[in-house]
Parts: sequence; C-alpha cells; structure tokens
Amino acid sequence: MNKLKTEALRIGGISVDQLKEQFSTPLYVYQEDMIEKKIDVFKKHFVSKMFKTTIVYASKAFLVKEMVKLVSAKGLNIDAVSLGELYTIKQSGFHMSGVVFHGNNKSKQELEYALETGVGTIVVDNLDELEMLFEISEARKQAVNSIIRVNPGIEAHTHEYIQTSLLNSKFGISIYDVKALNQIYAIYDSSEYLKLNGFHCHIGSQITALDGFEKMIEVMIDFAKKNMPKGLELLNLGGGFGVKYTDETPYEMDRLLDKYVDKLETVLTKNNYHISEIMIEPGRSIVANAGTTLYTVGSIKETYGKKNYIFIDGGMTDNIRPALYQAKYDAVNASKIGQENALQYTIAGKCCESGDVIIKDIMLPVTEKGDVIAVSTTGAYGYSMASNYNRLQRPAVVFVKDGESRVVVKRETLEDLVKNDA
Ligand code: LLP
Repeated sequence: MNKLKTEALRIGGISVDQLKEQFSTPLYVYQEDMIEKKIDVFKKHFVSKMFKTTIVYASKAFLVKEMVKLVSAKGLNIDAVSLGELYTIKQSGFHMSGVVFHGNNKSKQELEYALETGVGTIVVDNLDELEMLFEISEARKQAVNSIIRVNPGIEAHTHEYIQTSLLNSKFGISIYDVKALNQIYAIYDSSEYLKLNGFHCHIGSQITALDGFEKMIEVMIDFAKKNMPKGLELLNLGGGFGVKYTDETPYEMDRLLDKYVDKLETVLTKNNYHISEIMIEPGRSIVANAGTTLYTVGSIKETYGKKNYIFIDGGMTDNIRPALYQAKYDAVNASKIGQENALQYTIAGKCCESGDVIIKDIMLPVTEKGDVIAVSTTGAYGYSMASNYNRLQRPAVVFVKDGESRVVVKRETLEDLVKNDA
C-alpha cells in the first residue's frame, strides 16, 4: 500500500474504487444533480417579460432514455435530428409536442414518423425537404408547425469543424439568399397544412465569448423584421454555450443568460418588433461538466525518446473529441489523490491508431498499473459519439446522486458486437 494515498476521489458521494468494483471500467459517470442544477440556471435566467422563453435540450449531446426522463421531469423541451433520436425520445414517454425536429437531410420515413407521433415543431432545412413535407402533409391532411433554418453568416470563435454558420455551411438557407427564401415562402403560401411560425439559427458550438451571440441576435431580429414585418411567433436561436474543459474562461452561465435576454429585449425594443416565443437549444452546457470517464491503467511505457505513456482501457472509442477536434481535457489519477504531480504523461487509448490520445502532456503523480484515471467534463458528445472501432465494447453509463448509483446504459457485451453480423 502506498502511504501517500490519502483519500479516494468521490463522485456523487461514491468512491471511484467502489464505482470501478461495481461497474468496471471504462465507465461514464454522470452526476445527476449537476445536470439538474445546470437546467435550473437556464430556467431561472432565460426568462423575459417581453416574450415567452422555451429551453430545448439538444439531445445529440447525450441521449439515453433516463436523460430524456430527467429533461421531461424538469419541464424542458427536447430536440432530435434523426429517426433514432426521435424513437429514443418517444420510447422514453416524452410528450412529442415538445420535440423540435432538426436535420439537413430528413428522409420521408423520418418526416412521416414525426407527423405520426405529433412532433411539435419541424425545422425545415431546404427546399427539397419542404416539398416532401408539403406532400406528406397533403396526403395525411395534417397541419404542421414549422420554422425555417436560416444561416446568418456569423463567425463564432470555435473550432472550424463545429462552426455551422459560415456562408457555405451545409445547414439552412443563407439569410442573403433571397431567391431560395422566396421559393420556400411560395410553397408555404400554396399549402393548406404547412404553417410557418418563424426561423431558426445555430451559429456553432463551444462558444465562450458573448459577442457572437450578440451579433446573431441583431442579425436575426433584423432579418425577421424584414421577412415578417408584422411580428414572429417563434424564433429559435440554437445552442452553442461554451463550457470549461481545461483553461477556457467561458462566461458564467447565469451572467451570460442575463446578458443574452437583455440583448434580445434591447434589440426588439429598438426595432419596435414583436416575437411571441424565443427558444434556445443548449446541449453541451447542460451535460458536459456533469460527466466523468473512469479508466483503468493497463500499461505504462517510457519510450526510447523518453516520453511517458499511460495506456488506458478505453480511448477514442468512448471519446473521439481529442482526435477529431484537438479537444483538451483534464484528468486526475484517482488512485493517487493528494500525491504530487511529479511526471508528465500522455494518456493514450488502446485503439490501433496513433491519434488515439485522450490527453497529451499532463502532469500526474507517478502512475502505476491498476490506477484509475478520471477524465473530467466528458458528459457531452462522448457517449453520443462513441464507436466500436477495433470492436471495443461501448462502456456502461451510470448516474450517481447522493451516494446512490444506477446503470442507465449497460456495458455492451461481446454478443452485442456480433448480433447483427450475418
Ligand atoms: N441546436 C442545433 C441545431 C445544433 O446543431 C446543435 C449542435 C445544438 C443545438 C447544441 O449545441 P451545443 O449547445 O451542444 O453547443 N460534436 C461536437 C459538437 C457538435 C454540435 C452540433 N450541433 C463536439 O463534440 O464538440
């Protein structure tokens, strides 16, 4: 036993050793109360006397049935971008009128499913999709509430892959594309069932500065006023609120939301314009900080070139973000809490891929085989982007709260890996 081992890391009141013993590793652990508290901040600060406010959880960040139930209990709406997301939400017993359905290439099957299940709002991405929606609504003689996704061409300060709003983005219709917009409006005018309630935009993800959001608000209200001078029923401004992973300094969520609402009210007043309801769609900011991934150290390697590797039992299969976006994470050696960070390590996964690195150059206590590494802030786009590369089994997901834990997704079995093989 190492004498310096002072206290074990606890998550949600449970020691990491116990979590490892009970559920094995790699393991996604979510602190339920942190998710609830984040939601409460949104509910408290995204409010206005001037317009109705609606918070839509962007489910792509982390979607499992228990998450949908949590979101539902908290009274949020939820978004979906595929049949699979719609199905998961429906299977969780969510009221489908609170669903916002996105996607730049919705299939006929997806649109039909959305109408069949009574999805509340469809966000129309393009002309082909709207033509298909027109036909489906005619055939079903069913009214459809929809908004158009537009691209305000705002540059958000974030990684290029997650910027969605530049002029050539695949999402939505540029606010400057008058011809395309007129074609869209003509379809609505000719339809008995399609209702155009307003517009949507989303300028990117992991945005830590306020100015992009402020610019977006100005541009979108100006655009809405020019296109629907009598006022708008619904404006959906997407998500994108950044979180702290390592050394970022995002706005505190409460302050950011106060400023965001303030900006909306100021610009509406200045323009003498009315919008009945304004939606936002936070994903990452609701779940990222609540998630921690636990790994067990298999081997330690000092290379010939004197680089120290820690090899963990997961990797890019459970967290693709470092490889895909050069995303940075922080970690602790949960088995050596209180010990001096004495050595620089690179934490690498077990996949056949040199880019399979979770953290490059992190100072940690001298680490041994069998130690548990806890990587923080892995709650968003980790599990939801997980893969079976190298036929690794996707880890279990556990919710912890007040010393209690429950499995919300079982660890994949070897049978799961081959079950669809012919
Ligand atoms: N609404 C729409 C239409 C979106 O496309 C997104 C994210 C959101 C809301 C939620 O954005 P958030 O609040 O989570 O930033 N896989 C990337 C992130 C992709 C985000 C795509 N859209 C990552 O791991 O960073």
